Amino acid sequence: MPSVTLEQLRQYYDNSVDISAAIVHDIDPTMEYVRRLTPSSVYVFQVRKRKNIFVLKVAIEGIGDTKWKIQHLAKEKKTLTLAHDIPGITHLVKAYRDNGPYRNAILKEFFEGNTLRTVYSRYYGDRARFNGSRLRPQLERTVRELHARGVANLDLTPNNIAISGKEEDICLIDAGYGEFKRGMTAEQFNRYRQDDLDDVERVLRQ
Ligand SMILES: Nc1ncnc2c1ncn2[C@@H]1O[C@H](COP(=O)(O)OP(=O)(O)O)[C@@H](O)[C@H]1O
Ligand SMILES: [Mg+2]
Repeated sequence: MPSVTLEQLRQYYDNSVDISAAIVHDIDPTMEYVRRLTPSSVYVFQVRKRKNIFVLKVAIEGIGDTKWKIQHLAKEKKTLTLAHDIPGITHLVKAYRDNGPYRNAILKEFFEGNTLRTVYSRYYGDRARFNGSRLRPQLERTVRELHARGVANLDLTPNNIAISGKEEDICLIDAGYGEFKRGMTAEQFNRYRQDDLDDVERVLRQ
């Protein structure tokens, strides 16, 4: 049973109380809250579990646009399950069973680095910075492998892509927007694939 009340969750949503640590503990008592990762549409926390750092994402029922959030995380869970052996994406570590207001909570690998958004703001939006670097083909490979597994429309924005401190590795850190090939026409899926490849170009060069 969750320890926090609906009233506390409402106040949390309004930023009048901070119960992040209690929420993390409710979801998994072996987990310790480190900090809140923002910006985000769902709740995203950096957590520690058995001395390792992970990312916990959770949709909380009853606050905000619940339906959308629950679906967003269900999609991310599905995509990460399909992507379990693809390099260049933060893998799923654990999916939690729904528990009271906590829906579709997932634990993912933490990628040590900075989002492209942060990097670009540091270098005055200079997207030409990575021209000719290995990062673009690396990201493109991950994207193509996801396409091959039947997921496209990946929301490849600077916020959802991170690079390591030495700028040697690139990683897709948010997989909650993908659309699945199943139940869509081949034309639609091809359009999504092409949009993703265009985004790869756009996000890493001028
Ligand atoms: N696996 C991760 N490793 C490092 N930072 C992360 C990771 N996942 C999320 N973050 C940070 O948290 C922010 C929000 O997470 P994200 O998954 O993009 O949420 P949303 O689904 O709301 O877009 C990211 O922009 C990033 O700064
Ligand atoms: Mg995101």
